[in-house]
Amino acid sequence: MKPQIKSLLLNGVQMMMQKTETINIQSSTDVVLVRQAVRKLGVEIGFGLVDQTKIVTAASELARNTLEYGGGGTVKLETLQEGKRRGIRLTFEDQGPGIADIDLALKDGFTTGGGLGMGLGGAKRLANEFEIQSAVGEGTRVIIVRWK
Ligand SMILES: Nc1ncnc2c1ncn2[C@@H]1O[C@H](COP(=O)(O)OP(=O)(O)O)[C@@H](O)[C@H]1O
Ligand SMILES: [Mg+2]
Repeated sequence: MKPQIKSLLLNGVQMMMQKTETINIQSSTDVVLVRQAVRKLGVEIGFGLVDQTKIVTAASELARNTLEYGGGGTVKLETLQEGKRRGIRLTFEDQGPGIADIDLALKDGFTTGGGLGMGLGGAKRLANEFEIQSAVGEGTRVIIVRWK
């Protein structure tokens, strides 16, 4: 794939974003592919085992939500460089039913399925940055960033 590189100057700090790939999430096999791709990217940019495991675990939870609740969707993988630090940004998107109460969905133990209700809150804690946008009847977008 042709690499897409964006570069911008933010408060005097050079910020670079490079998109590596977008993965469709339509089955459990795709969730495994997401885990593998995120792990590989982490290794490539020099993440240690702990950082790798944190972002892979978060990605796994979010991919599973995209599949189970969003009815399938996509994840965009990007590497970031801000000054000397490097990171990974993952953007999960679906056009599913959306989330009526985001604060509630983030609470540990809350589930509308048969899960443990730890996925969203867990992913938020495992990431350095976490953003969620959702509209009922339109879909959900979750963005996480993990810095090295
Ligand atoms: N992509 C999504 N689309 C719609 N609802 C979602 C999505 N992701 C999460 N949710 C809602 O948030 C709840 C909590 O998610 P999570 O913390 O991962 O727990 P679990 O997956 O065990 O239910 C889910 O039960 C579901 O109601
Ligand atoms: Mg979940």
